[in-house]
Amino acid sequence: MARVSEDEVREALRRVGDPARDGNVVDLGMITGLVVRDGNVMFSIEIEPERAAEMESLRLACEQVVAGLPGALSVTAVLTAEQPPAPQQPPQQPQQPPQIGRHGSAGGGKMDLPGIGAVIAVASGKGGVGKSTVTVNLAVALSRLGLKVGILDADIYGPSMPRMLGISGQPRSDGDKLETMRGHGVSCMSIGFLVDPDQPTIWRGPMVMGALEQLLGDVNWGELDVMLVDMPPGTGDAQLTMAQKVPLKGAIIVSTPQDIALIDARKGLNMFRQTEVPVMGIIENMSYFHCPSCGERAEIFGHGGARETAAELGCDFLGEIPLHISLRETSDAGTPITASDPGSAEAQAFMKIAERVLAEL
Ligand SMILES: Nc1ncnc2c1ncn2[C@@H]1O[C@H](COP(=O)(O)OP(=O)(O)OP(=O)(O)O)[C@@H](O)[C@H]1O
Ligand SMILES: [Mg+2]
Repeated sequence: MARVSEDEVREALRRVGDPARDGNVVDLGMITGLVVRDGNVMFSIEIEPERAAEMESLRLACEQVVAGLPGALSVTAVLTAEQPPAPQQPPQQPQQPPQIGRHGSAGGGKMDLPGIGAVIAVASGKGGVGKSTVTVNLAVALSRLGLKVGILDADIYGPSMPRMLGISGQPRSDGDKLETMRGHGVSCMSIGFLVDPDQPTIWRGPMVMGALEQLLGDVNWGELDVMLVDMPPGTGDAQLTMAQKVPLKGAIIVSTPQDIALIDARKGLNMFRQTEVPVMGIIENMSYFHCPSCGERAEIFGHGGARETAAELGCDFLGEIPLHISLRETSDAGTPITASDPGSAEAQAFMKIAERVLAEL
């Protein structure tokens, strides 16, 4: 299918009007930083900061009209304002009104993260494929190889790290910075330590960016060889913030062998490719099933799709993780299998991947 062009995107956006003014967002000069690459579309919408709340529906409308174009693989629109960012709120109050900063491609450089060796995003296009499970086990595996490892839980909407690492309680604050929490030899920071889980927060794009920047910048991460970032599913605000603001060494894409999941993994891959974050490789999760009673290996979702996709896309295949009840149980119990049963075949699969990742570093 032909990829969508810049002109087509502009034409589609002309159908979206600014509710407070006469005219459409294109002719009013509100669309800036339009980037179209391989069917992936990103742009900023310039607004006045005080109109942030009402503009969220405009942002969604813009994304929707572009997403409806044939050949548009992913669409990310962010709200930006000309004025410098407002002073940041501490992460304890993410329910504050959105802060608008300039996050377009023209704005601000990458964050400086002294003391952190390599930051690697663990991502996927589709939800529920095992990003968080892979992140936590890969982190423990890398720390078993002697590295100092941290995890940034970038899943603002549904943080998993407190549960998967078995950490509860709130982080201590040392002066103006929060201390990380530790579990199984890994340092971690997650919005899950800071917000009340019974109080769902409605996050808007700019808030996600602010929160992520704070989880990175307002936390005392200490010295780390590797920071793994557990990404939320999809190709939205968090992905864009990470790609634009964080000096990522690379991204690891997690996929199940199902075709549909692979198509989405390609989306995730494109998202990082177009922002010039190298894709370090693909991991196939739930790759096959080893029946615990008969010992037979069953390839429930078809097997090897991720390896083929990696070859097709010219990136490394990092390894495969079996579908195993012990992985789900240990994830839920906060005792990652790489820590609780390091000799098991499942843990060994993660150790092999960790060795490959270490070699790439
Ligand atoms: N290889 C596996 N074998 C068995 N269960 C698994 C495996 N990988 C993940 N799971 C289970 O599948 C569920 C989803 O996994 P996980 O939360 O890691 O996915 P995710 O991609 O991070 O999801 P989300 O997109 O919601 O963040 C969890 O209950 C997890 O324990
Ligand atoms: Mg997750």
